[in-house]
Amino acid sequence: MRLNRIDWAIDVIAPRPSDHLLEVGCGHGVAVTKVCERLVDGEIVAIDRSATMVAAAARRNAEYVAAGRAALRVAELRSLDLGGRRFDKAFAMRVGVFTRGDPIREFAALVRLLKPEGRLFLFHDEPSTGADDVGARLEAAALRHSWQVEVRLAKSFDSGEVACLIARPPA
Ligand SMILES: C[S@@+](CC[C@H](N)C(=O)[O-])C[C@H]1O[C@@H](n2cnc3c(N)ncnc32)[C@H](O)[C@@H]1O
Repeated sequence: MRLNRIDWAIDVIAPRPSDHLLEVGCGHGVAVTKVCERLVDGEIVAIDRSATMVAAAARRNAEYVAAGRAALRVAELRSLDLGGRRFDKAFAMRVGVFTRGDPIREFAALVRLLKPEGRLFLFHDEPSTGADDVGARLEAAALRHSWQVEVRLAKSFDSGEVACLIARPPA
């Protein structure tokens, strides 16, 4: 079976069995399922600002929600309050705010939500734009908010090129 963009992203994120992960903009919850397949006593909290999407993700992942591996919430990243909880890894796929405008409040929220040694993974693709350009915009946004960029990756799929940025919170 050919690797798709979400399988590739999960391979890059490489969830460990005990990791605590946050997904921003989970949509239908496909990545949530793939993360849960790798968790043992870890957990993924997945948010989306659309109640319709969260309902769909909850249906798809009902078994993992019941087992305590996944929690789904209707929330906007910039105002997400999880009572001081911190994650090992946070990721977002195709969440436009990181490539458009100035995501100052989104990056500030991620500083609060990630452990100091945690990692942020941003994946993005656009129909008529190469991964070099998309990745450069992701990197510029992260650097503007003092994140420590570790690496930029790119991968081609039938649907186009996907860029990935991996970064650590500001020191
Ligand atoms: C294009 S969809 C991508 C869904 C999925 N991540 C994927 O790659 O297939 C973007 C999703 O992110 C959600 N979203 C966008 N900005 C968000 C934000 N600031 N906070 C929470 N959810 C957001 C949207 O409601 C939408 O469901």
